[in-house]
Amino acid sequence: MSLDWHRSTMANLRSVYPFHTDTGLGHRGPYMGVSLTGGMAAFHYDPFELYPTVLTNPNVIVLGEVGSGKSSTIKAFLGRSIAVYGARRFIAVIDPKGEYRTLADVLGFSVVKLHPGGTSRLNPMDARPGDDSSDVAARQRLVAGLVTAVLGRPLDATEDALLGWAILTLGRTGRSFTLADVVTAMQHPPADLIELTHTSPQTLGRAAAPVVFALDKLINRSLRGMFDGPTTVSLDWADGPGIVVDLSAAYGDRDALPLVVMAATHWLSAVLQRDSERRVIQVIDEAWAAVLHGARHFQASLKLARTYGVSTWLICHRPSDLTAQADDGTADAKIAAGLLSDIQTRILLRQPPDQLATAADLFGLNPRETSLVGQLARGRALWRLQQRAAVVHNVLSPTERALFDTDTAMTT
Ligand SMILES: Nc1ncnc2c1ncn2[C@@H]1O[C@H](COP(=O)(O)OP(=O)(O)OP(=O)(O)O)[C@@H](O)[C@H]1O
Ligand SMILES: [Mg+2]
Repeated sequence: MSLDWHRSTMANLRSVYPFHTDTGLGHRGPYMGVSLTGGMAAFHYDPFELYPTVLTNPNVIVLGEVGSGKSSTIKAFLGRSIAVYGARRFIAVIDPKGEYRTLADVLGFSVVKLHPGGTSRLNPMDARPGDDSSDVAARQRLVAGLVTAVLGRPLDATEDALLGWAILTLGRTGRSFTLADVVTAMQHPPADLIELTHTSPQTLGRAAAPVVFALDKLINRSLRGMFDGPTTVSLDWADGPGIVVDLSAAYGDRDALPLVVMAATHWLSAVLQRDSERRVIQVIDEAWAAVLHGARHFQASLKLARTYGVSTWLICHRPSDLTAQADDGTADAKIAAGLLSDIQTRILLRQPPDQLATAADLFGLNPRETSLVGQLARGRALWRLQQRAAVVHNVLSPTERALFDTDTAMTT
């Protein structure tokens, strides 16, 4: 049969060849748009519904260049999750740009705005609710991460031991304590520790000095007035639909931002880790800042996801955010790979050409997927869940568009 040469668009061809479709992930969970690689079928996603058949952990990473639609994808997921599941979900957002307030108002979330001199404080040294207060491992990891970031080098064995000991001793009292108490404890080592280490108080004091200075700097600068005292915020866990922690006061300070995000995330993860029927979605926007310094810390908290029914969503810009140099000077690829092994849902929005090779490497993309990721239009993403993949266009309703708009400054 000879046919005349004909030129068509995919939209028209689709009706000529309508069999190009896949079954997607089923129809449970919020609608996340149309699957462009699945014959425009509806694409639904919920990490808890897909457990354990498709996913064995509920964590998610969203990567995309500036303005590619990362936050909109997540905001759509959050709003639609509440619409589908109501009180069966609790949502917590770390919001370094202060852009989730409009969504929070519509959904009835409480918003905690932290800024130096403000009235709200979170104490990252709080124990988990119902936990043995002497269980201090997570708090030791957090403070070590913060101090390491300030010093720009790993702690030496003595510093690490002194810091660990100070936090352990404070935890054993059973009372709640703050970062300022950690400084005081390090400055006054007790007689039995001096005896145990066969040193003088002066020698121990000298060894602890860099850590004390670093902590003091944190308390008086980056974390001042936000994380340096007892917690004043209560989480409406029983009835509230969610909480947004607005950290925009620190957004402009590139040095402070990672530390503030780390401290806030730690506090939030600690209060969210409790036995409950409700499933928790924890979003850490602009996570790249904190992942850079605290990959190990994040890894530990991601591992607890299944135990407590928490799905953590990390939002980063580039794959290289995950492979940057580690705190201890070693190539961080191993840590990034470790992080990613606990994150089975990867949502890749458009990446610039210089990031494609790293993306292909880290996420195991084939050449076609790699080239797609370099060309995606705003709001489109390659969703990778284990061996499954789909390119999904997130269709926003007019209300959502108005609510999620972060372009006003560019378009008006
Ligand atoms: N699927 C979509 N349909 C229509 N508009 C969209 C879509 N996704 C995003 N936008 C619009 O694009 C703009 C940028 O989106 P968004 O803030 O989500 O990007 P981002 O990747 O989070 O940016 P940044 O890197 O600055 O945080 C917003 O104004 C948003 O309304
Ligand atoms: Mg964003």
